[in-house]
Amino acid sequence: MKATLTFFTALLLAPLAALPATITVQADQRLGRIEPMLYGQFIEHLGCCINGGIFEPGSPLADTNGFRRDVLAKVRELNPPLLRWPGGTYTKIYHWQDGVGAKSERKCRPNLIWGGEEDHLFGTDEFIRYCRAIGAEPYLSVNMGTGTAEEAANWVEYCNGTGNTHYANLRRNHGFTAPHAVKFWGLGNEEEAEPDCGRLQDPNEYSRVAWQYAKLMKLQDPSIRLIVAGVGGSTNWNATVLNSLHPVADYISAHWYLRANSHAGLLGSVAAFDRQLGAFESFLGTYPPQPKNFSHWYRFPPRQGPVRLAIDEWGLWNGGQGGRTNGWGVEQTYTWQDALATASWLNAMHRHPNLIGFATWAQMVNVIAPIQTDRQNSVRQTVFHPLALYAKHCGDWSVVARCESPALEAAGPGQPLPALDISATARDQGAQVTLAVVNRHSTLNIPARLQIDGGSYTLTGGYELTAPSLQASNSVSRPTEECVLTRQLPAAVGIDAREFPPRSITLLMFAPKR
Ligand code: AHR
Repeated sequence: MKATLTFFTALLLAPLAALPATITVQADQRLGRIEPMLYGQFIEHLGCCINGGIFEPGSPLADTNGFRRDVLAKVRELNPPLLRWPGGTYTKIYHWQDGVGAKSERKCRPNLIWGGEEDHLFGTDEFIRYCRAIGAEPYLSVNMGTGTAEEAANWVEYCNGTGNTHYANLRRNHGFTAPHAVKFWGLGNEEEAEPDCGRLQDPNEYSRVAWQYAKLMKLQDPSIRLIVAGVGGSTNWNATVLNSLHPVADYISAHWYLRANSHAGLLGSVAAFDRQLGAFESFLGTYPPQPKNFSHWYRFPPRQGPVRLAIDEWGLWNGGQGGRTNGWGVEQTYTWQDALATASWLNAMHRHPNLIGFATWAQMVNVIAPIQTDRQNSVRQTVFHPLALYAKHCGDWSVVARCESPALEAAGPGQPLPALDISATARDQGAQVTLAVVNRHSTLNIPARLQIDGGSYTLTGGYELTAPSLQASNSVSRPTEECVLTRQLPAAVGIDAREFPPRSITLLMFAPKR
């Protein structure tokens, strides 16, 4: 306590110019729009993500739909605006008709991708019901491995059909009079992945087949948005695919999984991701915002608006074996180091606003996930906290922000990294500005000079999250312990300096002075 008082006294007395860091936000200079869909989630029939995660019929913790109530409450705190399903790689063998209709008639099949058996009790209608329960838009990926374009188009008819037609009536017979109105449809998943059982691992071949899927699906419902399968990093796959499919590709997908070899190494990977987004901006900018000369004989309109990036899998996959998932190493325990990286990762996405159409963290429960369960309990992992906090408090416009900061204690690969990493966002025409500051240094308090230009702002409050060490973690085996210390920050009329504690994530909310 004494040390803190001494520090604050020193901070108050220090000339602002002498502080080791400076943060300047230009509240009236917008970089672009941040899609609220940035905070989406993904669930797949892998391990205990669905069965034994969100869905456990018969459990005393489940509701009448079989949804785990304790998990549902935590998912609502995460508040994902978008939910992707059924995969992932599992999409390559998923036949949607196995998962609709009377439960007693659903077919149980081997899960050839991830092992075990898939009973199909959680199918399309259950997925839609779950989306409605959490207020998320559904996002379905179609099978381009063992499936057909006709099967995918029939799925669109089942979900969105309004006529007196076979699959629309099938949905009605299953108790869903109103259409499910699924807007987002992915054309396969990681189709380039050579070890997978996909059949379209050549980009020309993928494009040719994806065109047929696109046509049949759009003929069922011209309003749907299509996501074509791309890859992260630099490759000619994306160019080949978009050169062909760009008139109907609302989004191209790319996946990023980072690994925590060390704190600096992980943050170096986040910085590399930031640079890759810059490359994606230049690349996607080469496609016309509105396709030209699209023949009316297609019988549906072309893409409306620029092609955008769909980061429909992102997360931290540190490897390891064991657990309940046949050795795929997906049951990760996340540390506070992982949470700091997650916050920085979100900052990087904020810095590329117009580029990203949406993102879905992989995956929501148990599988490389912010929520962990066993049969009796569920807990929020460390990464849960930045995901929930950013989704709730960050704005939908990215604004210009600059930061000068001391360096991180250990150098990562490439350039030296700053200890402070920031993003600034605004909502309601600048009525609220949120400054997110991650102090990634493990031991250093960093006092910073704060300047909000482009208006006269007052601090309305904020949150400061810390943990006792970089290695701190929560675990479902210690369900009542929480390693993350959350401090709510009070309002202040004038704020021109602030101390950012080591290993901290701080969100400061400002509103214009009246
Ligand atoms: O999220 C786990 C798996 O990782 C997905 O099924 C696949 O798309 C990716 O490789």
